Amino acid sequence: MNKKVLVTGGTGYIGSHICLKLFELGFDVYIIDSFINSSHLNIANLKLINTQKKKNFNNKIHIIQGDIRDKSFLEKLFIGIAKKNKRFYSVIHMAGLKSVTESTFNPLSYWDVNVNGTINLLDVMSKFDCKTIIFSSSATIYGKSKKKFLSEDLPIKPCNTYGETKATIEKILSNLFFSDLGKWRICNLRYFNPAGADPSGLIGEKFCLNPNNLFPYLNLVAGGKKKFLKIYGNDWPTRDGTAIRDYVHINDLAFGHILAMNYLSSNKSQILNLNLGTGNGNTVLEVLKTFQKVNNCEIKYVFKERRIGDVTSLVADNSNLKKLFNWSPCISLSDMCRHSWNWFIKNKSTL
Ligand code: NAD
Ligand code: UFG
Repeated sequence: MNKKVLVTGGTGYIGSHICLKLFELGFDVYIIDSFINSSHLNIANLKLINTQKKKNFNNKIHIIQGDIRDKSFLEKLFIGIAKKNKRFYSVIHMAGLKSVTESTFNPLSYWDVNVNGTINLLDVMSKFDCKTIIFSSSATIYGKSKKKFLSEDLPIKPCNTYGETKATIEKILSNLFFSDLGKWRICNLRYFNPAGADPSGLIGEKFCLNPNNLFPYLNLVAGGKKKFLKIYGNDWPTRDGTAIRDYVHINDLAFGHILAMNYLSSNKSQILNLNLGTGNGNTVLEVLKTFQKVNNCEIKYVFKERRIGDVTSLVADNSNLKKLFNWSPCISLSDMCRHSWNWFIKNKSTL
């Protein structure tokens, strides 16, 4: 197989796991990344995994450092591919900024990178007649819903800037689809909470000492780098007062992209909005206790005020994804905790 897939943000947390799957399936993978939130280590380790598996796909990894806001940079890449009389089979678009909290303090960067960057990419894709895209959207676009399971037809009402940029990109993709009927194949994958790492422990989420997300913070406390976890709110209307999220293993999530890509390419032009989550919700305390149990460690915690932009519960109604792609999650919360810790202990020296 010599199909070329363009992955923006492909050296990041989710991107590196998707790229691993793409290599395993024999795709020719072009990664665009500015490395603003990733490191070359993920790429070196992707190559190492291929070598360990005795797979010789390393000549199929093309890393192109650059920013999606730079249109001439994007055009050069597409011109290079066109000169070979080829085109991208699909684009998986993940490059962007992703912190809910940071987005409330730094909105202009979020609009610039996420929205302007995506407009550039879509413009160049359109010019080069490359009209298949899978976009990393987010469950955060549903905002404060009272529903137990969130289905794709719920109103889109994000309650933070990050979510607004994701909702805007979905709107732009919809406008584009209807402006050029019969041409675009688009899948907005609305991720719930990706967690864990590849069991090899060789690729994962870049460490930082003040992460926003729960799993990186659990690792820091368990690893003695932080004294305790701050749990944001114990007065949420849930079974133990802490907020509920739908944690999905990063490799299950990555596989969803492969299915989406294959589905789009073998079906007529369409635009899909699909939740990518397990359909099971866990509270912060349940995650913490599972993490302690499976990794045999202690995690001290304190309760703090609710965090700005947070909601009580985000759990996927994933029936559409299951029906269309025959996708189902295979990896448990316990394994998410094991694999996350395995990544941490193998790589904590890079902190
Ligand atoms: P990540 O930060 O690890 O990966 C994003 C990648 O994009 C990084 O490698 C970063 O260097 C790159 N990037 C950022 N700005 C860029 C730019 N202007 N040009 C080129 N590259 C740029 O994040 P992730 O967790 O892998 O998330 C990937 C995508 O999924 C993001 O769009 C994010 O919003 C979305 N998402 C993530 C989560 C989550 O919990 N991780 C949930 C829902 C949606
Ligand atoms: N939490 C804590 N303490 C922490 C970190 C998190 O109590 O130190 C709690 C949060 O309040 C929340 C839960 O753990 O209730 C999960 O928080 P995360 O920050 O890990 O994840 P979010 O649900 O806030 O957001 C994540 C991604 C978003 C994405 C969203 C989709 O960061 O990009 O999932 O559901 F949009």
